[in-house]
This record gives sequence, structure tokens and C-alpha cells, in this order.
Amino acid sequence: MAKTVRFGVIGCGMMGREFASAAARWMHLDADLPRPEIIAACNRSAGKLEWFKKNVPTLRLATCDYRELLEREDVDAVYVAVPHALHEEIYIACLRAGKHLMGEKPFGMDKEQNDAIAAECAKHPELFVRCTSQFPYFPAAQIMIDWIRLGKFGRLIEVRSGLLHSSDLDLNKPINWKRMVKENGEYGCMGDLGIHAEHIPFRAGWRPKTVCAKLSKLVAKRPDGKGGVAECDTWDNATLLCDAEDADGNTFPMTFEMKRLFPGSTNDWYLEVYGMDMAAKISTGDAGAFHFTASWGKERAWSRISVGYKTMIPAITSPILEFGYPDSILQMWAAFMAEFDGRKVPFGCFSVEETRLSHALQTAALRSHAEARVVFICTGRGPKL
Ligand SMILES: NC(=O)c1ccc[n+]([C@@H]2O[C@H](COP(=O)([O-])OP(=O)(O)OC[C@H]3O[C@@H](n4cnc5c(N)ncnc54)[C@H](O)[C@@H]3O)[C@@H](O)[C@H]2O)c1
Repeated sequence: MAKTVRFGVIGCGMMGREFASAAARWMHLDADLPRPEIIAACNRSAGKLEWFKKNVPTLRLATCDYRELLEREDVDAVYVAVPHALHEEIYIACLRAGKHLMGEKPFGMDKEQNDAIAAECAKHPELFVRCTSQFPYFPAAQIMIDWIRLGKFGRLIEVRSGLLHSSDLDLNKPINWKRMVKENGEYGCMGDLGIHAEHIPFRAGWRPKTVCAKLSKLVAKRPDGKGGVAECDTWDNATLLCDAEDADGNTFPMTFEMKRLFPGSTNDWYLEVYGMDMAAKISTGDAGAFHFTASWGKERAWSRISVGYKTMIPAITSPILEFGYPDSILQMWAAFMAEFDGRKVPFGCFSVEETRLSHALQTAALRSHAEARVVFICTGRGPKL
């Protein structure tokens, strides 16, 4: 019988609830993994705690002060899902309290804060620390990862990766903290969306060596939700054109798109890999599909297969059925718990080292845009997947 890991949740908003839902349906997994059991929840305002009190029967503590949660000896690990400006303070407090940590992206509001969190992690090698990123656990993404590992693409011609939204095109949508620099940070849309686009490319050992960034601010004001108007000061859209290098030292162009204003997209996460031997593309806009090129005489033709529910961590759903966002969250948590238990998984959660790479890229992107020039990034050679 696998053990239980007692969790505290700090930040009971959208993502805090997603974790509670994933933990509640752990029986959905067909794998003998340690089970996360939420015993404590903390939110700044008491209202959001009501949902946890109502829906999490294992809850022993509901508090508005995260220090009270961290003082408890019965909390083994913590999931922190709070606005970016609080990552440094709360992640470091978790580590100092001796708690294993699943932190949310971008894992520090800026590079300085990320450096401070990474330095604290280094002082606690006994603690298991990861950052969220769930899209690689879509079954089509798992095929992409296998193909990269098998070297099916041959020499890379080009890679494109991104996460695209369109809900901000509704100018009546009230502002939230994600659209304010003081809570979200200077990265804006890159801090929100960047790590999702970077996880597979970084793990594949593809390293950005330079970046030329184009950032846009298109919406200056939004309703404040109280009858007034508030200033919207974060970047809405980012395109990062990078010179990248693979683990063998070959260079190729790699483009990242992180956009809140992309007509027609609703959380469309995509990855396209174009190689001399094969090409493939996936998108959560057509989540069940894996598109790839096959030879057709001297030409190449696109083919599409419907992937079904073929997951990295086995689950009870039949492989002929569909997979969705909450399933990817469950798979990500299963990967976290497996690695936490010392097991090897084919594709693990985003590491602290990878968050450092993400901050190096996004900080360079800010400079590139501000100075209208290409900025060099010292990332070293990446390991093979
Ligand atoms: N992995 C994903 O797909 C994904 C999606 C959305 C957001 N996120 C990330 O999750 C994190 C949270 O985002 P969200 O969408 O859940 O935001 P949210 O606004 O829905 O929830 C954040 C919660 O934190 C609470 N909070 C604020 N200060 C606090 C404090 N000092 N102590 C305790 N609670 C506090 C707020 O009251 C709120 O309930 C961010 O880092 C964000 O980037 C990840």
C-alpha cells in the first residue's frame, strides 16, 4: 500500500482548487503511487476557504496566515498557488519550515527573486522541489517527447512553441492581479505563459543562445470590477525569436509565443518541430491529434492520428476515450508524487534548474525589446532528453 503525503495548500484560488480536485480523484490513476492528502489550506481572504471546508473532508486547518500552516508538523509538503509577487517570500518560508514544495510558475516574479528561491533550494537538498507545468502530459505531447528522444526528426530545421489566449479581447473583462506589474511582475504574459511553452524544448536540451523579442501592450485600461477603471500595465503579447542549440551543438531558430490577445485561441498550447527527416505538430486546440509528416514519393504529406487516453502514468480511462485539462493536472501531480517517491518517470515536472533558464530567457527578452536588439544568453549546452 503506497504511503500518504500530507499536503498544505497556500492560495485557494483557481489552481489551488485544481490540485484539490486532482487529489480527490487519485483513484483515477492505475498506479501504486503515494497519495497527496490535503490536511491544511490557507488563503488571504477567508471566503475562498469555504470551498475547501466544504469539499475536502481530510482538512484539519483552514487559516488566513500561511505561517500557521507552515508551523504544523503534520504538513509534509506544500503546494503554493499565489500571485507572483509573493512567490519569493512564501516559497522560501516553506523551504525554511522543512516542507517539500510544488511551486507555481514563474517561480519568482523576476530573475532576482528566482535566484533567491534557487539559492534557498540549494541549502535544502533533502527537500523535493518542482514547478508546475502540465501540458507535456497530454498524450499527444508524450508522443512528441518520445519522438524527440528517439531522434526521429533528424537535424532540426526549426522549432515553434507557444501558449495563446483570446479572452482579453473582451475589453469588458474586469482586471485581475495578472494584468498588474506590481503583482504579476515585469514579465507580464511571459511570466504567466512562458514556462508552459518552454518545458519540452528545455528538457529536450534545446538551449536559447540569443533572443530578439517583440512585446506588445494593447489594452491600457480595464474595468476594475467596482464600477471604475484600472490601469493595465503588463505586456499582453510576446514573440521571442531565438537562436537555439541542440545537445549536439547544432543551431536552429526556435520561436516562443506567449499571448493573451490571439483571436480564436482558448488556452491553445502548441509545439511544432520541423526536422530534416520528419516534422510533427500538436496543439491543445485539437488536443486529441498528433500531426506528423510521412514521405509521399519525393514529397512530404501531413498525417493525423487521434491519440486517445494513452497517458504517461496509467489511469483507469480506456485508451480509446478523450483526455483534457484536468487530466493533465492529475498526470502532472502523479509525476510529482512518483519522483517525490524516488521513482524515475519518463518525463518529470519542471525543475528548479529549468526555472533558472526560463528567467534567463525572459529577462533577456525584456532587455531585447527595451533596447531593440538581439541579446545573448549564456545557457551552456543542454543534456539530451
Ligand atoms: N499551471 C497552470 O495552468 C496555471 C494556470 C493559472 C495560474 N497558474 C499560476 O498559479 C498561481 C496562482 O494563480 P491562480 O490563477 O490560481 O490565481 P488566483 O487569483 O485564482 O488565486 C490566488 C489565490 O491566492 C490568494 N492569496 C493571495 N495572497 C495570499 C497570501 N498572502 N496567503 C495566502 N493566500 C493568498 C488569493 O486570495 C487567491 O485566492 C500563479 O503563480 C499563476 O501563474 C498556473
